Amino acid sequence: MGNKTVLVSGGAGFIGSHVTVELAQAGYDVVMADNFSNCDETNYRGVCAILGRDLPLVRMDFCDEARVKALFAEFHIDAVIHFAAFKAVGESVREPLKYYRNNLLSFMNILENVRKIGGNVLFSSSATVYGEPDRLPVTEESPLQPATSPYGNTKQMCEDILRDSVKAYSGLRGIALRYFNPIGAHPSALIGELPRGVPNNLVPFITQTAIGKRACLSIFGNDYPTPDGTCLRDYIDIVDLAKAHVCAVTRMLEGRMDNAYEIFNIGTGRPVSVMELVNAFEKVNGVEINWQFAPRRAGDVTAVWADPSLACGKLGWKAERSIEETLAAAWAWEKKLANLA
Ligand code: UFG
Repeated sequence: MGNKTVLVSGGAGFIGSHVTVELAQAGYDVVMADNFSNCDETNYRGVCAILGRDLPLVRMDFCDEARVKALFAEFHIDAVIHFAAFKAVGESVREPLKYYRNNLLSFMNILENVRKIGGNVLFSSSATVYGEPDRLPVTEESPLQPATSPYGNTKQMCEDILRDSVKAYSGLRGIALRYFNPIGAHPSALIGELPRGVPNNLVPFITQTAIGKRACLSIFGNDYPTPDGTCLRDYIDIVDLAKAHVCAVTRMLEGRMDNAYEIFNIGTGRPVSVMELVNAFEKVNGVEINWQFAPRRAGDVTAVWADPSLACGKLGWKAERSIEETLAAAWAWEKKLANLA
């Protein structure tokens, strides 16, 4: 019997490209599909360079129902990992219909095809579904909070769509992975995060400030009820995160799921403050970041970090890379980009 084939929608993006590498290295055949609406071919080329061979790449929009159907006719797909979605919180507030249309339609088009073959779907969800948790760390049983942005709402809605679909269509299995804060880059520095315009997320803003692309990092809020007054997050290395997908897909394909729909937190279980992260970056990379305190950013929660023990027990996965290794990789990637520019 040949290798199992995994379709990675949004495969040329930050998370999709790292997941593709780990899947291929674990022996899966991978079909990468992307519409390149929010990235160029840098990561696709990087994936091929890391693996030393070209992978099938399909340029397509998962909102195009006929195109998705044709894709499933063309390839025998054993599992789908779905990343193809918009992800900017602020933009989603300004353009909610763009987010609902793209993020929901693309997912439903995939499910419509997977359900017909009784297949497996892994959905990329987010810790954003927990909002501002009452108790920390958060487990998969922690209550969900109403979403504060259309982006966050699409994550909750896609989880609901997957859960209801698995219940209704026999043979369909689904896993939602709730990511905490994915950061870093591949140790090869051949793939990484490629934010367009001014980065929203902390680590790309730090690396761009360190390289001189941004004048100054604003640390949003120093009056939170945390040890140093800055927000606490659970920063998960992108390669560790990618490996969790291999564990989850393998669990599905080997028929080891306890339920046809499962949810796992993917984080380290270790809270790190914004200030600690900036200090660690400076120390491990021997660079200085020009930073200043700024007012709180609207919509930010004070603190959120994972209890990853379910993923540890059921997926046999845990975060392995230190925050120092991760921040060194993020810096190596930014320097690589600067040389490319
Ligand atoms: N931060 C700064 N300065 C910056 C950027 C971020 O101080 O320039 C701080 C934020 O205030 C926050 C922390 O760094 O305290 C992390 O911010 P990110 O934007 O990197 O990540 P978030 O925790 O806001 O993002 C996460 C997920 C998103 C999700 C969002 C919803 O990565 O997918 O939570 O709140 F949408």
